[in-house]
Amino acid sequence: MRKCLIIYDTKSGNTKLISAMIQKYLESIEISVETIQDKKLKDMELLKVYDIIGVGSPVHMNSLAFTLRRKLKNIAKKKIDLKGKKLITFSTSKFPKKWDMANKMAVNLLKSTNIEFFAEFGCQNEPSAQINKIIQEKLKDI
Ligand SMILES: Cc1cc2nc3c(=O)[nH]c(=O)nc-3n(C[C@H](O)[C@H](O)[C@H](O)COP(=O)(O)O)c2cc1C
Repeated sequence: MRKCLIIYDTKSGNTKLISAMIQKYLESIEISVETIQDKKLKDMELLKVYDIIGVGSPVHMNSLAFTLRRKLKNIAKKKIDLKGKKLITFSTSKFPKKWDMANKMAVNLLKSTNIEFFAEFGCQNEPSAQINKIIQEKLKDI
């Protein structure tokens, strides 16, 4: 069975809701999923155990949330090799399409790990049922 780890940050819960939607869908297609809040991720080597890595953040000050950004920088700094693994990025923001920029930042920060970008999601504030459909569509061939 393939394994996915979702690392996320959240303050008011919106990003966590997307994480839960991704988890629910992946589990329905027989992929085991663990989720961890970014600040609890201490051992970066742990990432090597997983086939799929999800990274989720609220937009803070036009950027990824600080602790998540620092964690991603650390993963790159420690030269963790994630070749052959798939990356899912997701984000929520107050303003339209700002989440798009946050997702791109996460991809850029992890570029040197050789992880393969697979899909991204995002929405304004609380995710609707529509985002669930988008998740299912974008992840169907993972
Ligand atoms: C400190 C702080 C800074 C924020 N900065 C932005 C911002 O620059 N642009 C934006 O669109 N939303 C901004 N927001 C709104 C959040 O990105 C948005 O409410 C998001 O859905 C919150 O996700 P969460 O519920 O997972 O914490 C900010 C929120 C906080 C608390």
